[in-house]
Amino acid sequence: MPIKFSKAEKVFTLTTKNTAYIFSIACDRYLVHQFYGKKNVRYTPYKPYTVSFSPYRKELGNTWSPDVFPQEYSFFGYGDYRTAALKLRGADGTGVTDFVYSSHRRFNGRMPVEGLPFAEADEHVQTLEVKMIDSVTGCELLLYYTVFYEEDVISRHMILKNKGQSPVKIEKCMSMTLDMQGCDYDLVTLYGGHCVARRYQRAPLHHGMQSICSRIGASSPQYNPFFALCGKKATEERGDVYGINLVYSGSFLDEIEVDQTDCTRIQTGLGEENFGYTLLPGEQFCSPEAILTYSSKGFGQMTRNLHNFTRNRILPQNSLKKPHPVVLNTWEACYFNIDEEKLIRFAEESAKTGFDMLVMDDGWFGKRNNDRAGLGDWQENPDKFKRGLKTFVDSVKEKGVSFGIWIEPEMVNPDSDLYRAHPEWCLRVPGREPLLAREQLVLDMSNPDVVEFLKNSFKKTFENVSIDYFKWDMNRHMCNVGSPALPPDRQDEVPFRYMKGVYALLKWFTEEYPDAIIETCSGGGGRYDLGMMRYGFQIWTSDNTNPYSRTWIQRSSLLAYPAATMSCHVSNPRDDLKALDFRYKVALGGMLGYELNILNMSEPIKAEMAREVKEYKSFEELIRLGDYYNLVSPFENDFSAYYYTDRNRKEFLFSLIEKKDTAPRSTKPLKIKEAKADKNYVDLLSGSRYTGKELRDGLILPLTGEGNTAILMHFSEEP
Ligand code: GLA
Repeated sequence: MPIKFSKAEKVFTLTTKNTAYIFSIACDRYLVHQFYGKKNVRYTPYKPYTVSFSPYRKELGNTWSPDVFPQEYSFFGYGDYRTAALKLRGADGTGVTDFVYSSHRRFNGRMPVEGLPFAEADEHVQTLEVKMIDSVTGCELLLYYTVFYEEDVISRHMILKNKGQSPVKIEKCMSMTLDMQGCDYDLVTLYGGHCVARRYQRAPLHHGMQSICSRIGASSPQYNPFFALCGKKATEERGDVYGINLVYSGSFLDEIEVDQTDCTRIQTGLGEENFGYTLLPGEQFCSPEAILTYSSKGFGQMTRNLHNFTRNRILPQNSLKKPHPVVLNTWEACYFNIDEEKLIRFAEESAKTGFDMLVMDDGWFGKRNNDRAGLGDWQENPDKFKRGLKTFVDSVKEKGVSFGIWIEPEMVNPDSDLYRAHPEWCLRVPGREPLLAREQLVLDMSNPDVVEFLKNSFKKTFENVSIDYFKWDMNRHMCNVGSPALPPDRQDEVPFRYMKGVYALLKWFTEEYPDAIIETCSGGGGRYDLGMMRYGFQIWTSDNTNPYSRTWIQRSSLLAYPAATMSCHVSNPRDDLKALDFRYKVALGGMLGYELNILNMSEPIKAEMAREVKEYKSFEELIRLGDYYNLVSPFENDFSAYYYTDRNRKEFLFSLIEKKDTAPRSTKPLKIKEAKADKNYVDLLSGSRYTGKELRDGLILPLTGEGNTAILMHFSEEP
């Protein structure tokens, strides 16, 4: 039983394969966090104590102050001065609440998160529901803990029900609170911007508040919602590491506060700046789902926990069952100059090279000849498709490849028929000039009429057109956020309702085109999050296709997200076979594709690409489904090394990538510790043989110092 409750001690124990999460009920009202970490270790139960001036209820004694004890969920204004998870403005106008434990139940399966993406759970997964009540507002708070035993993950979310007589406004909403003993941790976050998303940062925690957030209406390239807390000495293979993430793609807030008692509060959720929600009597609100994992074996294990979880519980299952297609994408080859004759030749060359699919990127619809016009007009441009989209797609397919198409449903150019017909369908604030970004405005996805319109316009355009793949883009951030469709007192709800509209449309796509796959994108990785991964089989990792940049972008993405989600394209090698080889080997960090003008490629380059695709297909499954072991990170070193291996440790795909300014020398031994000591292996790419012991002791490899250099080895166990 992964969820146990001791009636005598009033202690809940949630266990996964390697971890335990423990909390208790104190004084019949408080939920006190006790422990989260390695299973079966003795922990010291929390002993109440007092801190001067901390508020308390007289009948419980001054040692039970809400400001001191570790809470399971935290509330604003009633004695806990640390950052709160919930702030609720009720009829008294104060924001103060005092939720207390009321009851709990366990059940198989999970509670869905209404209108939002959430992790898949069958009857083997158990959930704990804990009910808390605030007597003054009459609100009921349900805390959910879903235990993913095999993946070592516990997920949390909450539902707030207004059972009172008056409306309440949720002013801050976090999906969880985790109050940990001690503060000797480092905080790892992934920060950045467009083309430089997910830079790795590790810094010691300090007293006070530390937070990362997005205010842009997307999970953002500036700060990814994922973060980790680790012991000061934690490494790839050793030490305590907690990984936290949110299944959500909009603005968010992650908070870490070290308090006066040297304890650490962790929270993740919707936050307060870009959020508000009014609940009428009888209504309920569901928060996004937070994901927690713990590893006692360093970052490597945390990463593999998150990878397994994302593959098993988040990604659409049809995305994992078969190889992801190797695509040729037209963007860097054509930009907006879509020419059907040319693309049919692209398709022909793609088929010859062994690519599986041609993806027609931006520029095919409306008056889209540059980024200044046409967004929102989702009909093919008749000047570009003289015989219509359907005939064009059929011709592409006749050449022997499948077909993908680019869309950016959430956006509109002011110079478009859609905007001219419905200026009120954009996010805007009355009296304030909307600001453009990339010449575009954001559609009001919080308005169901807009979502409905989009469904109908795509349905009409794609009727009878056989589309195998959608690249769903989102190329600007939100500001001047207001919805003409909502009253003034509901405007705070727009960012959250916007995301619900986006998810509703994504869901519709998955149902309307069940055989098609969706790759999501936001100028590259601006929405690289678990919410998008629930619908899209992979994400365009970054608009930056420079292989040196890609090395660290991919490594930091892999910290939290599996390789199956990472779309990695080889861009123009400029007739240089060495450059092509390097770009290809870097792209093997994730799912391979190409983004170049195939008609301009020389015969040797085309022949080499054909060889690469064939080779890639021989180990694609290892990348898509394999366990990832990082050996040397590009952040602190002048080269990087890692490997993927299958469940049974029969195959290893090893990669070493040099940075530009590497000093020529030999590496230290790069240990493939998962190899079996009593087996022999052959590198299928070179034919060289190794004993398992040799692989475990480590490969010592040459660093050339020349740049554009990588080493790839594919070891297979010999019978
Ligand atoms: C974004 C994407 C690119 C491409 C362009 C098209 O920048 O990240 O891959 O699709 O939009 O406008």
